[in-house]
Amino acid sequence: MKDNFLLIVVLISIAAIVFLIWLLKGRKYESSQSVASSYDSWTNDFLLEKLWGEHIHLGFYKTPYKLNDFKKAKVEFVHELVEWSGLNKLPKGSRILDVGCGIGGSSRILARDYGFDVLGISISPSQIKRATELTPRDVNCKFVVMDALDLKLSQGSFDGVWSVEAGPHMPDKQLFADEMLRVLRPGGLLAIADWNRRSVKGKPLSIFERFILNQLLNQWTHPEFSSINGFKNNLLNSPYFGGSVETSDWTKFTIHSWNDSIFEGFRRPGVFLKLGPNSLLKGLKEIPTIIMMRWAFAHGLMQFGVFKARG
Ligand SMILES: C[S@@+](CC[C@H](N)C(=O)[O-])C[C@H]1O[C@@H](n2cnc3c(N)ncnc32)[C@H](O)[C@@H]1O
Repeated sequence: MKDNFLLIVVLISIAAIVFLIWLLKGRKYESSQSVASSYDSWTNDFLLEKLWGEHIHLGFYKTPYKLNDFKKAKVEFVHELVEWSGLNKLPKGSRILDVGCGIGGSSRILARDYGFDVLGISISPSQIKRATELTPRDVNCKFVVMDALDLKLSQGSFDGVWSVEAGPHMPDKQLFADEMLRVLRPGGLLAIADWNRRSVKGKPLSIFERFILNQLLNQWTHPEFSSINGFKNNLLNSPYFGGSVETSDWTKFTIHSWNDSIFEGFRRPGVFLKLGPNSLLKGLKEIPTIIMMRWAFAHGLMQFGVFKARG
């Protein structure tokens, strides 16, 4: 009896350890192709789209926070960034490049609600296919597979450049800034939102912070996070930089997204029934990273940086 009990405890412990290793097993950045494969897989299984909708970015919550609809908060986020960056002052028909466009959530709003002529690019062929499928013919958006670090687009060919939460996937932040500013016409507008880590000047990362950051990098194929000031300097140091740059920290407006992104799974259990048991496992695997992200933003290790600049 005692032996059986011991055996059960050992088996449960082994299962728990294997489960923990599987939960924390990373999807490390190797090259832009590893990013493409991760997003291809996240697109083809439809889990993100069914739970979180057409936008793969955080929502904007006006304080005080009410348990909101995550999908609505994401749409709100796009309008807030358009307004803050001044993109809404560009005339209808302006050419906008959406760098790292996902499945086109922002691109479609920019085209439909602001009358822009939008080109969305992503490294993931499946995202580009899905973005194209989701876009009605009368919405002025096109989507192509392209590497943000090697834009096959001519200098000064856009009135505005938009990029939301793509920067952490870029191994070379200076090249990322240079390429976006290169294709922006002189006087054009740049609007960027990104996950940034805190500055380490005068306060190095603790061992625990380094562990959390490593998890956040390795789980979602990120080579590195820049700090808000670090990326601001990348913009300022670019040979294509022509005008002003301003930054802000929107952590307090976006942080509720992390809780909401988990609650969506409980609000919409039918999604897992429809997509099958594998989707439930995939959803479970994301929960520790989401909780760590929430912790990192709440404790100042991560910051939600927004940037506006003129070409
Ligand atoms: C977190 S998603 C954000 C998607 C979209 N901006 C949105 O808000 O819904 C990051 C996006 O960056 C894209 N991306 C990552 N690395 C890229 C690269 N080197 N070139 C182009 N796109 C890239 C991914 O394919 C994905 O579409």
